Amino acid sequence: MKIGVFDSGLGGLVIAYSLVSKMPQYDYIYLGDTDRAPYGNRPEREILEYTSQGVEALFKKGCKLVIVACNSASADALRVIQRQHLKAWPGCNTLGVLIPSAEQAVISGQRIGVICTQATADSGAFTREIHKLSATAEVFHKATPRLVDNIESGQMLLAKHNLQQYLKAFSGHNIDTLVLGCTHYPLLKKEIRGFLGDAVNVISQDEIVPAKLQDYLTRHKEIASDLSTGSNIEFFATKITPTIKKLACQLFSKSVLMEQIYVVGPSARH
Ligand code: DGL
Repeated sequence: MKIGVFDSGLGGLVIAYSLVSKMPQYDYIYLGDTDRAPYGNRPEREILEYTSQGVEALFKKGCKLVIVACNSASADALRVIQRQHLKAWPGCNTLGVLIPSAEQAVISGQRIGVICTQATADSGAFTREIHKLSATAEVFHKATPRLVDNIESGQMLLAKHNLQQYLKAFSGHNIDTLVLGCTHYPLLKKEIRGFLGDAVNVISQDEIVPAKLQDYLTRHKEIASDLSTGSNIEFFATKITPTIKKLACQLFSKSVLMEQIYVVGPSARH
């Protein structure tokens, strides 16, 4: 059985790549719901419905464990999905990226900035998870809604311009840590580190999730022992866009075969 990585779009490829780099022995399936991205400005009900469909499609394709790499989905939908799927897919599990980021944030500092989608900011999930670990930490959210669209459409120069504007929101807060609370933002981490300088520790999920997964698999031998080790990776998207294909080829440095998948009947997609 395989490890699934689900995201609303192309950003989760960066997480998938970091997992494959650290644990190349496993078989992986990536699914990006590019046809319905971005999720981050959708209502909670839709994020839950779409994420649930994506995760289910990965279970049907033989995944034992699915990493929900999308923060908007981790924030809003994950707990409900874990309960639902526990019943329908016994022995399978879904893991998110938000709690590992909160854990890393409180190790890093006490004045924590978070950039994320509007849905993640509205959910208050980062503040909640950080405060469970450190009641004294101060958390400053900034929703950065234009970045995902810019990145999905390949407008990286515009993304960098918008990013610079968004980061000004933290200038009065003296933050010591910034969490990149969206799968797409590791693609801008070099620029973010450049804008903020050395005084701010930037937490990028691609740098922390692989170790967390390794730790999880060490503690859950019943799951680890069921994972197949053929070093294969399959790529699916609900719409094959030029940008997702390009990023997959760039990261995995080979001519990636990406297949379109319908996670619901074609007539009921929107
Ligand atoms: N993948 C989403 C997340 O990490 C961002 C993109 C979106 O809005 O769909 O929140």
